[in-house]
Amino acid sequence: MSPEPVARAVEILARGGLVAFPTETVYGLGGDASNEAAVARIYRVKGRPADHPLIVHIGDASLLGRWARDIPADAHRLAERFWPGPLTLVLKRATTVNERVTGGQDTVGVRVPGHPLALELLRAFGGGIAAPSANRFGKLSPTTADHVRRDLGTDVDLVIDGGPCEVGIESTIVDLSRGDAVLLRPGRIGAADIAAAIGADPRPRDAAAPRASGTLEVHYAPRHPLRLVSRIELEPALTRQSAVLAFEEAPAGATAAMWVRASSDPQRYARELYALLRRLDEAAAATILVERPPEGPGWEAILDRLTRAAGR
Ligand code: TXA
Ligand code: MG
Repeated sequence: MSPEPVARAVEILARGGLVAFPTETVYGLGGDASNEAAVARIYRVKGRPADHPLIVHIGDASLLGRWARDIPADAHRLAERFWPGPLTLVLKRATTVNERVTGGQDTVGVRVPGHPLALELLRAFGGGIAAPSANRFGKLSPTTADHVRRDLGTDVDLVIDGGPCEVGIESTIVDLSRGDAVLLRPGRIGAADIAAAIGADPRPRDAAAPRASGTLEVHYAPRHPLRLVSRIELEPALTRQSAVLAFEEAPAGATAAMWVRASSDPQRYARELYALLRRLDEAAAATILVERPPEGPGWEAILDRLTRAAGR
């Protein structure tokens, strides 16, 4: 009988290999964060520019001091409130941190993921696991083990299958390295949740914000062009070649290549989003039409990802 996946994963990581593993947000492409060769291989497999930093995943908040220095009280408040969970903190990096992980920056992104298999792996491995989302650069993030296998094939040594991800979109990123909290990437944890934990609204991203590939204009992109449209723009834009994600059923007589009815619950919408976009991308012969979600609370991160997917 082959050893269980977590034990095999620890062996692979220890010898510098790459392991894709589930988190509550999306699957990660993991390597030993202290091993330069392993980190270099993550960048190669992802096809990601070397100056885009990776997130270091750790098994417990008590390990933060190994990766970050000058940790402000707000970091402890956020860690206490949201870890394990879908939140990444950007902090000044500890001097011992491998510069490849941080893309040459003086800061490091760290999170404790809220997924039992990820935590089991991190705790068994002991060290930090550097992991971007387990997809090629600029493509849709994977939310199932099958997505990872289809994207990365044999470029990854092992894929741990933990079923579909519960959150479905990438973690919220908060920068605490420059004083006031800055929201670099919205996620399941929203600005209001952060404000409640630290007693101040996080500032939106500005020009001085550190580089983050998730914040490039075109990112999370399917192969076919994606258009965000209002309900009234949808029908005139529709052709036989379109694949549609909308809040209503297809009107009688509509002839789309595919029509999927979206959930009106933002958490469920986010959970299904990337898997749906993959299906729509396969079905579409031309454009993917997505009905613009509302602006209300809970939809911020979804609008962010859809806007980037449309941004070409
Ligand atoms: O939910 C997630 O965060 C997933 C799972 C696997 O943990 N990971 C993920 O990784 O989305 P990735 O590499 O696809 O996106 C991480 C984002 C990138 O935009 C990266 O630039 C940013 O985090 N980031 C990491 N370290 C940073 C730092 N020191 N300063 C600014 N941004 C940083
Ligand atoms: Mg990514």
